[in-house]
Amino acid sequence: MKKIIVGNWKLNLNHLEGIAHLQKINYSLSETILNDSNVIVAPSHTSLRSVQTVIDTDNLKIETAAQDVSQFEEGSYTGEISASQLSKLNIKWTIIGHSERRANFHETNEVVNTKLKNLLKNNIQPILCIGEDINQREQNIHVETCIKQVKEALKGIRKENIQKVVVAYEPVWAIGTGDVAKPEHATEIVTEIKRFLTSKSFDLDQFQFIYGGSVDSKNVKNFMLTESIDGFLVGGASLSSDEFIKIIKLTI
Ligand code: 13P
Repeated sequence: MKKIIVGNWKLNLNHLEGIAHLQKINYSLSETILNDSNVIVAPSHTSLRSVQTVIDTDNLKIETAAQDVSQFEEGSYTGEISASQLSKLNIKWTIIGHSERRANFHETNEVVNTKLKNLLKNNIQPILCIGEDINQREQNIHVETCIKQVKEALKGIRKENIQKVVVAYEPVWAIGTGDVAKPEHATEIVTEIKRFLTSKSFDLDQFQFIYGGSVDSKNVKNFMLTESIDGFLVGGASLSSDEFIKIIKLTI
């Protein structure tokens, strides 16, 4: 399966800066690397159309993800953006359940579940973020916390309706802290999630597992030695094209 490297730009870069950044990344990667992997950038909603237009017009192999989607399909929800609107923009991937949204915008597992259903209905591949905070790890409930997040996100979803879900394990204590998780941490969580999915009769080949949290070009290699990780969700380091390109090249 192709490796997945997602650059989550978070609340950074306007649409002009986003286009310039995309072009730099594209010019620095060979056709082979781009064909053999899923390189994905996740700009702010305001940049999605511009970035996607450049990708479509110039036939680039880089793909676009939205950083979030509304739990609602349409109606009186000022400020929201729906899955069908993203689909019309040709967006193929969308991040849901990021810990920053769970912590700052009260996104519950129930809301994540609705978002996931809306994405699948619109043929958009979800990048489902899960991960424990430091207290949960210290209390040794990190595995059950992550399983619960996956279980509730997938509630009521039939395996026939899933093409692909990317599960991004992002321990909260590793995000933006420089305190990267050990590969063993990721392997433990991925192994347990796979066990859970199998117990619920999901096909494991409908899922891919990536790691996020302080990933950079120095620590990325450690993870590539573990077979459980299929790629990375990169925050801060994805804002530097040099650094992001190095991470991609080391991942492939
Ligand atoms: P950092 O790479 O900045 O730690 O962010 C990780 C993240 O939240 C990606 O979604």
